[in-house]
Amino acid sequence: MKEKFYITTPIYYTNASPHLGHLYTTVLADVLARHSRQNIKEQNVFFLTGTDEHGAKNVKAAEKAGKNIKEFIDENVAKFQELWQKLDISNDDFIRTSDQKKHWPTVQFLWKKLEEAGDIYKGNYPGLYCVGCEAFITKKDLVDGKCRDHDQKPELIEEENYFFRLSKYTKKIEPLIKNNELRIIPETRKNEILALLKEGLEDVSFSRPAKDISWGISVPGDASQTIYVWADALSNYLSALGYGTADNEKFKKFWPADLHIVGKDIFRFHAAIWPAMLLSAKLPLPKAILVHGFITAGGKKMSKTLGNVVDPFDLVEEQGAEAVRFYLAKAISPFEDGDFTEEKFKKIYNGDLANGLGNFVSRVAAMIAQYFNGIISKPDDSILAKVPFLHSFKSLAHLDNQTNEKVEGFSIPYTIENLIRPEYEKLMEGFELHSALNLVWQFLAELDKYVQDYQPFKLIKTDQEKTQAVLWSLAFGAVSVAWLIKPFLPETGDKILKIFGVPSTDNPPAGGWQEFKITLPKESLFPRKD
Ligand code: MSP
Repeated sequence: MKEKFYITTPIYYTNASPHLGHLYTTVLADVLARHSRQNIKEQNVFFLTGTDEHGAKNVKAAEKAGKNIKEFIDENVAKFQELWQKLDISNDDFIRTSDQKKHWPTVQFLWKKLEEAGDIYKGNYPGLYCVGCEAFITKKDLVDGKCRDHDQKPELIEEENYFFRLSKYTKKIEPLIKNNELRIIPETRKNEILALLKEGLEDVSFSRPAKDISWGISVPGDASQTIYVWADALSNYLSALGYGTADNEKFKKFWPADLHIVGKDIFRFHAAIWPAMLLSAKLPLPKAILVHGFITAGGKKMSKTLGNVVDPFDLVEEQGAEAVRFYLAKAISPFEDGDFTEEKFKKIYNGDLANGLGNFVSRVAAMIAQYFNGIISKPDDSILAKVPFLHSFKSLAHLDNQTNEKVEGFSIPYTIENLIRPEYEKLMEGFELHSALNLVWQFLAELDKYVQDYQPFKLIKTDQEKTQAVLWSLAFGAVSVAWLIKPFLPETGDKILKIFGVPSTDNPPAGGWQEFKITLPKESLFPRKD
């Protein structure tokens, strides 16, 4: 069992307000942070997000908007913070690279460490700078003279910069990634970076002339140069913990990071430059980097010219935060690109949330309210045995010692404890969030089938005892589902617990719940949308 969990999102550029891609990264991180808080002490989880406010991109956007840079950035940062709040993002901190007290000292401290290691030198090489990437790119990255990712012409820049000896570290990083000391997930990305490291990487420019890029952090001892935006940005993972300052308790407690979540476009910075910087500074490397794909809209890259940009504020306003979180986590595999369309959204909303989860919970709660005055307690095991759960989790049969041979199945609590939970935890550990949700919804479908199998609405007329066993089992199932979905749908999870009278702050009690007291909700959890 892990003792602490430090998880980060990338810090977002503040040249515009947040888009759906940013939301995706942040929701993934939030789900994993919430999940780890269920498994380890809350104060041992640290979930960091923030904003990347320097660099040419932000300056250009402010100029274009005709605004003062600081004002422009502050406005955009406020939008990120507002969106995270709307989505119930549970970050423990929000780091801004413009924070001179908190961020800058660490960046300059780290720079000095690299310098002490002999890894910073002055050089002058011409290069092609892509503002979209905020990086020097090579001819290989060009299509028709434009950056492949940003469809922009790079600028030819020849200036005196400080360089970082990345080349010295490629051979050192390679085995660490190969043997999973630094895990890269998924495997395809691991192979991609290994191939790159094998080729060897060139040293990178680590500063820009301050006369061109003044909105940034000065190189220690040379105010004529500004620290390169990626060196500045990557350091956020340390500055938020107070590394290199007197207030470094968090650093001692949380470093190294357990998981950096990044999109595929920026994973090379995280899997090559960042580990090299850490090795140079003699710091432990992060344990893992999860690389996710891109979200497209209607199969195409979201772009203003195509007019298919999904505004996350509008989406949340129309669909509700929980439904948006659900879509991002369930409809898209973190390891591949995923698509967003309104039709697909509606289908998932109505199918999984309104007709699936919402309907199930309200049916079970209503039957308990009607037939048992809203209070139902655990029946004797001998009675439970009369209404076994005839599940068909064939794929989980290997986990199942007891039901394997018993065609008639076992109880719902047994199934949850021995089949669903272990498999769910395994999927979450492997970051297969969409599959974990699929498992839960498969379980919900089986619970629906249980209702069909025993028909409590008819059974109540002939056998009260058996009906109690069926409905108690179903309530147990609903409450267990609430626990499993809480990292994804925190509000809905809590609402379900409330409906069944189960406190939401504690972990599930050992041995599960004995009694449920129903409070019928005033509104349905997910009203159907047509
Ligand atoms: N500022 C840098 C990161 C520095 S981290 C030390 C940056 N910022 S960004 O705002 O451009 O991107 C932030 C994250 O959003 C990245 O992980 C990126 O992959 C993700 N996304 C941007 N567009 C995306 C989609 N369309 N889909 C999914 N995620 C995408 O890069």
